[in-house]
Amino acid sequence: MLIKTNADGFIHPVASDITPQAAYRRRREMLKLMATGVAGAALATWASREALALERPGKLAALAAAKSNAPGAMTMEKVTPYKDATTYNNFYEFGTDKADPAKNAGTLKTAPWTVEVDGLVKKPGKYQLEDLLKLSAQEERVYRLRCVEGWSMVIPWVGYSMSKLIEKVEPQGNAKFVEFITQADPKTMPFVGSRVLDWPYTEGLRMDEAMHPLTLLAFGMYGEVLPNQNGAPVRLVVPWKYGFKSGKSLVRIRFTDREPRTAWNKAAANEYGFYSNVNPDVDHPRWSQATERRIGEDGLFAKKRKTLMFNGYEAQVGQLYAGMDLKKNF
Ligand code: MTE
Repeated sequence: MLIKTNADGFIHPVASDITPQAAYRRRREMLKLMATGVAGAALATWASREALALERPGKLAALAAAKSNAPGAMTMEKVTPYKDATTYNNFYEFGTDKADPAKNAGTLKTAPWTVEVDGLVKKPGKYQLEDLLKLSAQEERVYRLRCVEGWSMVIPWVGYSMSKLIEKVEPQGNAKFVEFITQADPKTMPFVGSRVLDWPYTEGLRMDEAMHPLTLLAFGMYGEVLPNQNGAPVRLVVPWKYGFKSGKSLVRIRFTDREPRTAWNKAAANEYGFYSNVNPDVDHPRWSQATERRIGEDGLFAKKRKTLMFNGYEAQVGQLYAGMDLKKNF
């Protein structure tokens, strides 16, 4: 983020990249069935398989989830093609170019995986990924993700509200903030050790932000487990904040009474504040935040979209910031 200013160097990918080969094969299967007279019975399953094929890319293990009914959890906007969401990433542990994480994150070892919960909680502990997965029912939520660099995506995540875990570990009365600490293993993450950030990549939320029902502990996307480049095996997704608040590959969650320092704030305090709420009225010192480019949908020269206050989640989260000067608390 700090060094990539050539956002417009993005090459527009083919949006309709939904395995035409597979679709062709299915159509042939169908024609064969028609010829043998069993087409009627097969028609319904064929239709549902088509729907499934669009929802699930079929690349990784499935992660079943019911659609969420939390207010604001399902935008009806067109979902970003899986290929774009998994090849245009920010995951600096694997390189600073957008294509680097997809190329390099294969080395990330995601099993076994432990998340430590500590600090000001009554029930600290180490959670195996399997236990975290079982803690609450998985939901599918389609969130806009707006990056501070001026682009956005729409991604169907699978996970559950962070509040479920917070309730389980019982924060003490003086816990005011939550710090999210991510994996920093120089053996498997080639850019850990580079000077671009002070590793590990850390982020933080105020307790009421972390408890907000939209704050998601995510284990999957597009109906499958998270690809490594998107933060496997577990990450945070905070849809009303710039994308960098959503830490990937979490290993520790710490409850504290003080506002935690964050990796980007340490790197450039005048550019990355603690709150980092999406705000079209407060520009990044080097970029306007008034508009955004939707990855995989808009052409390179297409008109940009207007960025919405709190990324369009104002009705759900606006009250968290009532009375605060959001120009000072950017
Ligand atoms: N988490 C870690 N550990 N390292 C990172 O570099 N980049 C952040 C965030 N989480 C980052 C991270 C940024 S800048 C963005 S925009 C989002 O991840 C991107 O998530 P995505 O690649 O799944 O779209």
